[in-house]
Amino acid sequence: MKIAVLGLGNVGLVAAICLAEQGHEIIGVEISKQKIQLLNQGVLYIEETNLQKLFTKNRENITFTTELNSDTKVDCYIVCVGTPASHNGKVYLGQIKTTFENLVETFDKDDNSFIILRSTIPPGTIESVVKPLVKNKKIIYHPEFLREGSAVEDFMFPHLHVVGLENESDYQLVQPLLANCNNIKYTSYRAAEMLKYLNNSFHALKVSYVNEIASIASAYDVDVNELVDCFLADTKLNISTKYFRPGFSFGGPCLTKDVSALINLAQNKQVNVPLITSILASNEKHLFRVFSLIEKLNPSSILIFGVSFKEGSNDLRNSPVLDLINLIQKTPSYIPRKDIFVKDYEINESIANTNKIMCDGAITVEVDLVILGPLKLNNLDLKYIESHKGPILDLGYIEHGINDRKIIKAYESDL
Ligand SMILES: NC(=O)c1ccc[n+]([C@@H]2O[C@H](COP(=O)([O-])OP(=O)(O)OC[C@H]3O[C@@H](n4cnc5c(N)ncnc54)[C@H](O)[C@@H]3O)[C@@H](O)[C@H]2O)c1
Repeated sequence: MKIAVLGLGNVGLVAAICLAEQGHEIIGVEISKQKIQLLNQGVLYIEETNLQKLFTKNRENITFTTELNSDTKVDCYIVCVGTPASHNGKVYLGQIKTTFENLVETFDKDDNSFIILRSTIPPGTIESVVKPLVKNKKIIYHPEFLREGSAVEDFMFPHLHVVGLENESDYQLVQPLLANCNNIKYTSYRAAEMLKYLNNSFHALKVSYVNEIASIASAYDVDVNELVDCFLADTKLNISTKYFRPGFSFGGPCLTKDVSALINLAQNKQVNVPLITSILASNEKHLFRVFSLIEKLNPSSILIFGVSFKEGSNDLRNSPVLDLINLIQKTPSYIPRKDIFVKDYEINESIANTNKIMCDGAITVEVDLVILGPLKLNNLDLKYIESHKGPILDLGYIEHGINDRKIIKAYESDL
């Protein structure tokens, strides 16, 4: 393919050279005259293992320019310009806007060339900023996951490609460029746009979290390496997909108790751990998020499926569903107590002031709001839900397989 790579920073320069190595003909476009001058002299201004070697080898297949002109025809434009954040975190999209404004001036609107955007951008940017500029050109959003220091290796042998598309069939355009990796996820623009913020904040969270843990551990003469090695050895619960589906607040007999104990251990040794200290507050915030969703729905009657702290257990200790019921009941002006119905395996005294529905048999009450908690639904429950006219709030404990546009998720912060 003949490809123009726009923006030759760490991402664009590595892309340009590696794509040349993969057999493509490359035009590197960079606004900085100084960078273009250096590149034309064969000098790289970034350090990356093996980059100089590949550059020297593929020099003949790369040309450099500060701007494209309308006579230049390419199959694909790959945009890699910067998206720096200002001091308050607001993403500056000026480089993106200028690049696309310039592209519109130069590309042939009627040819089949398409655009791949690799810069990190907030969700909605393609729809609100890019699309209005380029109109009919196909745009693919392909976030870059390379790490500086191993950028060549990461580019040449990626572990994952995520590709945001407007139409499913557009995958055919980008497929020839997804070399050396069969792990490809095609998705919507917005999920692909948001992904780098999820990835990078998660990486940052892990670093800060384990540093806080190590500080507490060392204050208690714990061998930190031993400790972390044991943690990492558990690939079923710790380093795994477990505990990573969004749903409702955590609860139960262990998590809250042990997080509290950990904070107390830190305090006893004057170890300041802001991240770990914020966990319970974050969990409580989520409970209130769901409560305020219910307030907005303003139901006069509610049926809740399941009140224990998780599916398959009848343990009510620290159950966030019970906390939610208590919150609702503590707002006397809001909902009469008698109108909360609860169905669970074990209905006991802890669920005071609710109407209890025994497990077997069809449910006959009609309610304004149904809440799906940690109870596996039987066929009669599913039938009931099918005939329910009002909204359904899913706390995310179980995959119920109910595909209904009325379903509201616990994490939705706005209705
Ligand atoms: N650096 C990384 O490790 C990394 C990894 C993955 C993703 N990203 C993302 O990729 C994007 C690029 O990152 P980077 O580190 O290469 O940024 P960078 O700031 O180092 O490079 C951007 C380049 O684009 C050039 N440029 C700006 N406007 C231009 C225009 N109109 N035409 C041509 N060139 C123009 C700049 O002069 C600069 O050389 C960012 O959104 C970044 O968040 C970076």
